[in-house]
Amino acid sequence: MMKILMVCLGNICRSPLAEGILQEKSNQLSLNWTVDSAGTISTHQGELPDSRSIEVAHNHEINITGQRSRLIKISDFETYDLIYVMDESNYLDVLDLAKTEEERDKVKIILNESYPKENRSVPDPYYGGDDGFEIVYQMLDKACTVIIEKLK
Ligand code: 4NP
Repeated sequence: MMKILMVCLGNICRSPLAEGILQEKSNQLSLNWTVDSAGTISTHQGELPDSRSIEVAHNHEINITGQRSRLIKISDFETYDLIYVMDESNYLDVLDLAKTEEERDKVKIILNESYPKENRSVPDPYYGGDDGFEIVYQMLDKACTVIIEKLK
């Protein structure tokens, strides 16, 4: 049973979608995985996901309204087997918190699952238009399909 943490900056746009998508795929296969998400800044702690993320998830029959934004914590490196980040800036911020080589090895750029070794970023849709959220959804769906197939 895998335990996976999805991380972005605010934990209201990208990582809540990643959490919802991977949790849904694992549920569909009765895998019993633990999937959670967190942010590297505390600005939105306790808040629901962004309404545009909620809507896009809902359009794909995924409910993410049970999620609340939280900050990544040191104990996450023990709790989770893998920590997927959305972009290079998240990657550097999360690596900074890791204390051992084993902890650093758990941190992965999520789009390297669908586009190996390219270090592509999931673009931050926060300041853009609504269509940015569907693009982000499709990128994350593709990456999560690879994750499920690889680790199930
Ligand atoms: P996220 O998007 O990292 O995908 O959740 C953002 C949310 C909030 C902010 C930036 C990005 N912010 O600056 O408050």
